[in-house]
Amino acid sequence: MCGIVAYVGGQQAAPLLVEGLGRLEYRGYDSTGLAVLTPSAAPKVVRTVGRVRDLKEALPKRFAGTIGIGHTRWATHGPATYANTHPHASASGRILVVHNGILDNAAALRQRLADDGVSLASDTDTEALAHLIERADGDTLEKKVLAALHQVTGTYAIAVLSADHPDRVIVARNGSPLVLGVGQREMFAASDVGALVRHTSQIVHLEDGEVATVTADGFLTFTLDAATVSKSPETIDLSPDELEIGGHSHFMHKEIWEQPETLERMLIGRLDERFATARLDGLRLEPRELRAFTRVKILGCGSAYYVGQVGASMIEDLARIPADAEAASEFRYRNPIVEPDTLYVAVSQSGETADTLFAVREIQRKGGRVIGLINVVGSSIARACDGGVYLHAGPEIAVASTKALTHMGVGFALLALMLGRVHDLSYADGARILAGLRRLPGQISEILAEEQAYALAARRLARASSMFFLGRVRGYPVAREGAQKLKEVSYLHAEAYQSSELKHGPLALISEDLPSVAVIPDDDLLDRNLGTVHEIQARRGPILAVTHPGVELPGSVEALVVPKNEPELDPILLTIPLQLLAYHAALALGHDIDRPRNLAKSVTVE
Ligand code: AGP
Repeated sequence: MCGIVAYVGGQQAAPLLVEGLGRLEYRGYDSTGLAVLTPSAAPKVVRTVGRVRDLKEALPKRFAGTIGIGHTRWATHGPATYANTHPHASASGRILVVHNGILDNAAALRQRLADDGVSLASDTDTEALAHLIERADGDTLEKKVLAALHQVTGTYAIAVLSADHPDRVIVARNGSPLVLGVGQREMFAASDVGALVRHTSQIVHLEDGEVATVTADGFLTFTLDAATVSKSPETIDLSPDELEIGGHSHFMHKEIWEQPETLERMLIGRLDERFATARLDGLRLEPRELRAFTRVKILGCGSAYYVGQVGASMIEDLARIPADAEAASEFRYRNPIVEPDTLYVAVSQSGETADTLFAVREIQRKGGRVIGLINVVGSSIARACDGGVYLHAGPEIAVASTKALTHMGVGFALLALMLGRVHDLSYADGARILAGLRRLPGQISEILAEEQAYALAARRLARASSMFFLGRVRGYPVAREGAQKLKEVSYLHAEAYQSSELKHGPLALISEDLPSVAVIPDDDLLDRNLGTVHEIQARRGPILAVTHPGVELPGSVEALVVPKNEPELDPILLTIPLQLLAYHAALALGHDIDRPRNLAKSVTVE
């Protein structure tokens, strides 16, 4: 969702801001803008409803300024129009604000400003903040910003520029991500480190309720009550090359193809052969504590929630303790019962998903213990959790998640193995799962080698306007993820159903115009799944099966065959063909694969 960049130093700000905004594009946005300052002139602002490349083209030739703020906007208050594009200015035009988040009391603030005779130029909550800062009491910019922030409720990361204080940017964070980057006599701020890694590896994470004055010489952090907070930069381990697209035509394609290598890396040091278990030191849980949990509850959103369902099956199968997954976006609103002997697991690629973060806080507020399965190191959820497992998938740029989800599946397998081995999972079964995990990267490579077959099948599928994705028990979350991925990038309607539920209603829709993608592993439910195939065929429904070697399907069923692993781990492999199907369907339809319409990579608002 919205992205913020800010710069103060000795270089021209505009090109750096444009480059930083380009690195935040993947978060999802519909308009973009920036503002720069010189000590002697009025602020200069450029905004555009369109892409960062449009903003770059719109920049006048002479656009000097060594301090500036930039923004990519994902519309919330008001549509994607020029007037609603950030930065937003105060009445005098001397205060400029960019903002990520939602101010809950925006309507009341805007009304109050209007009653006071302020003419509002946009529909946004952010503009209200710019006016509040200008009108606030205080002899410094910092005091004015604090006074304004005391009047707002909701979530924000902001960067504020003032023509009266042309040496500084004031930034603040409450519920939306913001990091500072420390350079040589220059400073940066951004919504995520991806926008900064080309310039510095020295990062400062702001916490909720913290504000910072950022000048070329450094930064000063303080609370909303003006109490100084001392913070030191951390060195981040992220190579700028990991953010490049390489020889691929899309980041989604690159990320699908990276999986064998990133998984190898994820497993290093985590497989304990001696005791046939997993080594997850980041959980910060002794075997005795792990064993005391009688239940596991997994929380995530969207695809992360679906992988959570896969994880719950793994935990029930290997550890034999009750486990389930729930959409974090629902959990947080239903006054959940939090039990002391339940292990709560938050799962997220970005580590910034607002719904998941609030679910974590709700559990902790009620005394529950939450661990995280998170990809982005140092992200808000990772830091909020009581321990966890980093997924080490590397940066994921495409909005449609692929490799991070595969890593989540493997993260759950490691957790399930560890829980299993402190319960009753035998050494032999532990060793069987370890061997299966070691085989995964090579088996994913085998699937990827068949990409052309998937591309052909995807092109055929893309001719339909609607389809089912079907799976049973372990295969159902795989089907859900397959439908989700296809919807996200190809905009085709796809509905996931439990195969067992087909005859209880949706069978009415089956016809020769409605294809079904059926997940059919070679497991103890094979006969039941073949029964579903016959039910569909009897109604002339076309079927594309994602299945295992040796499974005998009726001749008219098109089959995509993936290597077999252990039954508990098979859902991880069965998902890979569905990634390829979605990618190639979107490619055939000519869509903007890495930036699907209406979607954001980090859903940082509720
Ligand atoms: C996945 O392709 C989607 N973009 C989306 O469902 C995503 O998984 C969800 O928004 C959760 O994101 P997170 O993993 O960053 O928390």
